[in-house]
Amino acid sequence: MNIYKVLPDLKKKRQMHIWNTALRSQWSAMDIDWDKPHRITSRRFKDQLAKILTPVLMGEQAALYSVSGLIPILGHRAEVESQFYLTTWAVDEARHTELFTYFYQRLDREPMSIRRFPAGYLFQSQIVSKDPAEWLAGVLVSEVLAKLVLEEFKRLDLDPVLSDVSDGILLDEARHLGFNHIYLEDRFSTLFLNEEEEGQAYSGQLTRRLQAVLDLVPPIFAALDQELTDLGIDRHELLHNLDTESKRRLQRSVKAGRAVATRQKKASRLEDAEILGS
Ligand SMILES: [Fe+2]
Ligand SMILES: [Fe+2]
Repeated sequence: MNIYKVLPDLKKKRQMHIWNTALRSQWSAMDIDWDKPHRITSRRFKDQLAKILTPVLMGEQAALYSVSGLIPILGHRAEVESQFYLTTWAVDEARHTELFTYFYQRLDREPMSIRRFPAGYLFQSQIVSKDPAEWLAGVLVSEVLAKLVLEEFKRLDLDPVLSDVSDGILLDEARHLGFNHIYLEDRFSTLFLNEEEEGQAYSGQLTRRLQAVLDLVPPIFAALDQELTDLGIDRHELLHNLDTESKRRLQRSVKAGRAVATRQKKASRLEDAEILGS
């Protein structure tokens, strides 16, 4: 059995701030007006959207699974502030899973099976890790992908309910990305404070991990090529944006951590936690 410290420090102010923001921002799938008139009526269009939404629903479920698995690990490492925050992250991903399940019911369709969509399942299985920072580097790809796809759904405004669902989820995702930055910034500031080489080596490790997860995305898009084109989503542009944004975000966390360690800069501000993710 683990021996827990009875009175946690709760000193990581930025993590405490984002945890409290997350608590105050909770919402429910029941807040969505599911009776809004359907805009998607053709059978073919419904089939296509059901395929495109497969990796999205899979991503939400995989996130719920991996976030839940990290909660006891953070407890074990006595990272109580992060453990607090991840409990809300798990609630968020549970809600997203619920929302897309209801949306499939609205479409009267089902996602693709593992047999028909192995690329999607392979991608999600690679994200799981027992090391929080390593997990965050992999999950960064999945979170940025979700963000970009939901922004496309909003831009195309395919269905009023899908647009409402996307609006709500995007706010949650911005918070997840904000936490991702804060956690990694802290981790890198500690490593760079110990020794420059230590920070550099870990930065290389996380960059390779990010790339390994990124490499699994093109087969997902290739499997959905026709559907994405018909819906008006440019898969090459999406892939390019995913690649650029996820690498930029990881590099930003490394740089920020290094700047804090070398006293060139203070840690990012409390109020910026949410903005950083959007
Ligand atoms: Fe999500
Ligand atoms: Fe998320």
